[in-house]
Amino acid sequence: MAIPTETVYGLGADAGNAGAVARIYAVKSRPADHPLIVHVTGAVDLDTWTVAVPAYARRLAEAFWPGPLTLVLPRAPGMGDCVAGGQPTIALRAPSHPMTVMLLRRFGRGVAAPSANLFGHVSPTSATHVATDLAGRLDPDLDLILDGGPCPIGIESTIVDCTGPLARVLRPGSVGTKPLRDVLGSLAIDSPRDRVVRVPGSLRSHYAPRARVLVTSGPELANAVSRARATGVAPSRIGFLAPSDWQTPQGVVRLSAPRTAAAYARDLYRALREADLLEISLVVAIPPDGKEGAAEAVRDRLGRAASAAE
Ligand code: TXA
Ligand code: MG
Repeated sequence: MAIPTETVYGLGADAGNAGAVARIYAVKSRPADHPLIVHVTGAVDLDTWTVAVPAYARRLAEAFWPGPLTLVLPRAPGMGDCVAGGQPTIALRAPSHPMTVMLLRRFGRGVAAPSANLFGHVSPTSATHVATDLAGRLDPDLDLILDGGPCPIGIESTIVDCTGPLARVLRPGSVGTKPLRDVLGSLAIDSPRDRVVRVPGSLRSHYAPRARVLVTSGPELANAVSRARATGVAPSRIGFLAPSDWQTPQGVVRLSAPRTAAAYARDLYRALREADLLEISLVVAIPPDGKEGAAEAVRDRLGRAASAAE
């Protein structure tokens, strides 16, 4: 069943049902060693799924759940064997979308759900995106898509590794390091630069549309567009993604003009999907200002989309 969350749509199944979880992997064409996030109702569920929860992780859960934060913790024996991709850890998140909150409460068990897109593609932020991506792969008699409207955040949750003495951000999201630090107090956060990348879904080639994505700075914009045109790309095949105060270069297709970093995040995947629909071959993107939260996460996703084409 596809479920709406405040970040992106998920493709959900009973996390304790190995057959149902296997279908998620099959429908998405996702490699079996990529673990899934288990969605729960809140901090009360921590002790069902995990062991040796550090005090700081409990504080994070209490501060940010329900919300766009995923915690990676040591897995309780026998729990989540079919969702962990062979890891001794498990990723947990309590989403805040009212429809999915109600579903989780009524169901009373954890729901494993990756983003409801095909493996490697851009995450879906509307029920239509899910239906388009997974067309022909869902069983109309078995698989529902719960339409909860467009996702208000629009990019995937912040993932924090809580298996060590310090919290480590594994994937940036709209919960930035500043609000995390405010809750962690004197406890430092490991610098992402020092981390050993072990979030399989954070392969740089992920989150990519078909078009090539070029991330550029303001001063480089005119050069980037004229270089593309010099290689024979028609302006109508060039998409432009930038904060609202940037003017659209002449003849180029404006895909999005967000006023804030949060609005940029909310609209990013819709805009990249639109680029594919319009058969855009090059998306030129100017990231939002700022280094925190949504701004950092948008830079991260644009960077991944850009390196996919390299
Ligand atoms: O916002 C979100 O997080 C969305 C919504 C549906 O909740 N979900 C999502 O799931 O983005 P997915 O599967 O597309 O990305 C989850 C990421 C993957 O990169 C996966 O490898 C990582 O979380 N992950 C899951 N379990 C993990 C674990 N035990 N240790 C490290 N990384 C893990
Ligand atoms: Mg995903």
